[in-house]
Amino acid sequence: MKILGIETSCDETAVCVIDAEGDSLSAHYRVLGNALLSQAALHAQYGGVFPNLAKREHAKNLVPLLAQCLEEAELLREEDAEAPAELKTMLEREPELFEMLEKFLRTHGKPDIDAIAVTAGPGLEPALWVGVNFAKALSTAWKLPIVPVNHMEGHVIMSLFNEEQAVNAAFPVLALLISGGHTELVLSREFGRYERIGETRDDAAGEAFDKVARMLDLPYPGGPEISRLAKLAREQGLEPDFTFTRPMLHDKNYDFSFSGLKTAVRTLAEKHAPLDEDMKMKIAREFEDTVADTLVTKTMRAAEEFGAETIVVGGGVSANDRIRELLMNRAMNQKEMIVSNVLFPKPELATDNAIMIALAGYFRANRRLFSAPEDLKAAGNWRLGAEA
Ligand code: KG4
Ligand code: ZN
Repeated sequence: MKILGIETSCDETAVCVIDAEGDSLSAHYRVLGNALLSQAALHAQYGGVFPNLAKREHAKNLVPLLAQCLEEAELLREEDAEAPAELKTMLEREPELFEMLEKFLRTHGKPDIDAIAVTAGPGLEPALWVGVNFAKALSTAWKLPIVPVNHMEGHVIMSLFNEEQAVNAAFPVLALLISGGHTELVLSREFGRYERIGETRDDAAGEAFDKVARMLDLPYPGGPEISRLAKLAREQGLEPDFTFTRPMLHDKNYDFSFSGLKTAVRTLAEKHAPLDEDMKMKIAREFEDTVADTLVTKTMRAAEEFGAETIVVGGGVSANDRIRELLMNRAMNQKEMIVSNVLFPKPELATDNAIMIALAGYFRANRRLFSAPEDLKAAGNWRLGAEA
């Protein structure tokens, strides 16, 4: 099955085509075309993602990315064709996208694709709508079914795959999902079913990285920057002479909280202002250790309580080396093994992309979980495990 994947939930505009086959145990896929444009540099000037700016950028970039990805997949067919009459009404809130898409549809034939998978949520609602309306328009023009995909399920599924081959992961699977907008622990007792067992009560882990980076005058997105400084501190043997409290570590639940930690960093940074490079490195190191320790301790505790066989980590923050290392050490180097496997996505697929959406969409398409274009909506708060 050839799936066109579309992702616009945050600040990455991404379009891909994958060719997938098999069921959840035997599935494998090939990426035929993949086009992604990150708006990170643009949002960097403001220190965070602005929903309406993101929306405009998605609208501007979707058609060129679609053309690029179809070309790479050798599915681009230049020929005279018709654009559906209802296109203008379908894209009335995205006039620029309408103009570009109409022109594209008039000059290109239907590609050899079986279904469209699009992120319907969770994410920034104005940003999600652009992708959803784009998917609806393509579905109408090319008479293709649409599968709405939960972005967080995309992160989970991406981590269950290795080298484009389904990992025969043992269930229950416990997923630690850590990104700029989300921090949650999700239990999956069987493939495709999810229960959320814990979440952040305030900031997401990635958001905490981004906010602390700003306090240290580092650019957005802050995660990789903090990580780079923390690594330098370790290499240079710079030991912080302060510690941050591990938030909610001893609470008997699987929730997280990062806003107190953020305040602790701010207080310390203000006390030592202006921060010299050594102090920045020490703060980055201790902050990263605190976040890693908190996430990993609670994840291991949940894995034990729920009898998880596999832990998967997903979302942009899962690219973090320290978190990977600590989790691997704690999960694998103990006398009594709690889980049999810990899986991470390849770092380049840890952050938002369309492949994870196409792949999660593939399994839903296999179960024929299609949505009629008129029923398809963006759902900014779509919780994994709930219906859209
Ligand atoms: O999943 P993602 O690409 O987008 C959202 O859905 O939010 O995650 C982006 C987040 C940002 O907050 C970024 O700072 C963080 O992931 N991030 C990292 C690292 N790479 C990206 N955080 C810590 N360490 C990293 N290496
Ligand atoms: Zn994400």
